Parts: sequence; structure tokens; C-alpha cells
Amino acid sequence: MERLQKLIAQAGITSRRKAEKLIEEGRVYVNGNQVKEVGAKADLQTDEISVDGVPLQKEEPVYYLLYKPSGVISSAGDDKGRKTVIDLVPGEFRVFPVGRLDFDTSGLIVLTNDGEFANLLMHPKYRIHKTYIAKVKGLPLREDLKKLDRGIVLEDGKTAPAKTKVIKTDKRKGTAVVEITIHEGRNRQVRRMFDAIGFPVMKLKRERYGILDLKGLNAGDWRELKPHEVKTLREIAEK
Ligand code: URA
Repeated sequence: MERLQKLIAQAGITSRRKAEKLIEEGRVYVNGNQVKEVGAKADLQTDEISVDGVPLQKEEPVYYLLYKPSGVISSAGDDKGRKTVIDLVPGEFRVFPVGRLDFDTSGLIVLTNDGEFANLLMHPKYRIHKTYIAKVKGLPLREDLKKLDRGIVLEDGKTAPAKTKVIKTDKRKGTAVVEITIHEGRNRQVRRMFDAIGFPVMKLKRERYGILDLKGLNAGDWRELKPHEVKTLREIAEK
């Protein structure tokens, strides 16, 4: 037996918190009976649970790690009909991306049908570290990057401290490759951080997400997460 809000979240319908609201609003039924008590328990195997009249499917949770190529949308659908990350993983289950990467950013993104897991990882209070490799225009000095390490004021507030490292520089072309690790996930955050210090990002790739990396994968490849990876990510987020 599990709490109803947990079962609803696991089915990928919505977050646990929003599922509680659905229950309070009387939109959830168990074996034909309306249940408005948050915290009531049910068994997905033996009980018939429905939300707005639609029965919950017992879906096996799946977790994919995708190496998103640039030029692909990371939301679940695109009104302009462009290719999305969903088109790049198996279509057996209705999965959605955990967080976002810009259209023109490549790299590691997790997709799942486990709404609870996704919400856990995306919540701003959980500090999953993300490492990006940014090719920037210009040759930043340590003192420039230190501004990012200390946190820099953007239009939506000061960023949390980052970790930066110059990987290589090309003096002739006037470009540098910088590794940067952050644990926030604001919109276009890395690009805006480098803009703020005067070194615009020319190319961006997310190389690591928590304990996960892109080892062995090429752009467009995916693999399933291993059970221990799912478990560890959950533990990191909950810590
Ligand atoms: N920061 C960005 O600027 N873009 C991304 O896609 C991810 C982080």
C-alpha cells in the first residue's frame, strides 16, 4: 500500500504536491469511491485508481540518459514541429525531460516517466551539480572567472558560487574552453553568466549531471540509467 499522492506522482501525472491538491479537490477515486483525504493509501496492483475519470496505468518506471545534440528542443513538444529529445529515446512510455537544455546546447539530459523522481531532481532546493564545457569568445583571466566562482549578479539575482577551470585557450583565434560547475538551473544561466563577465558563449555542452557523465556516448545516443544510478541520484537530492 502506498499513499495516493505518491502513486499519482509515480504515474507521471503530476508532482506529489499537486496530486495532493487533486485529492483535496475530489478528483481522485479509488474503486469507484471518491477519496478526499490526503494520505489515504491504495494498492496500484489491486485497486482501481482514477484521476478525472482516467484510470492510472501501472507503468514501469524508465530512466534514460540522453546525449542531446544541439539543434534539438528539450521540452516534450514543439509547436513549430522541430525535433525534440522525446523523438530520440524509445517511445514505449510517455517520458519527459528532467530540466532543460537550450536548443543550441548539447549534452546530458535525463528523461523519465517517474514524475516524482523528476520533481525531486528539479526542485531548486536539491543541489545537483551540473558541469558544462563552454567555448567562449575571448581569453578570460583567472580574475574574470573568479567573479563567477564568487557568484555574479544577473537580472534574476545573484548566482550561487560556481567552480570554473580553463581547459584550453587558443590565442590565435582568441577563444577559450572553460569548465564550469553550477548547481542552479536558471534559464540560460551559463550563457548569461559568461555574458555578464564579457566572454560570450559560442558553444555549450553539459558534460556531467550529478554522478552521471557522457562516457561512451556520441551525440544522439541514449542509454538506460542503472538502478544504482537512480538510487544514488535520489539519495543526493534527498540529502
Ligand atoms: N545554461 C545555459 O546557458 N544553457 C543551458 O542549456 C544550460 C545551462
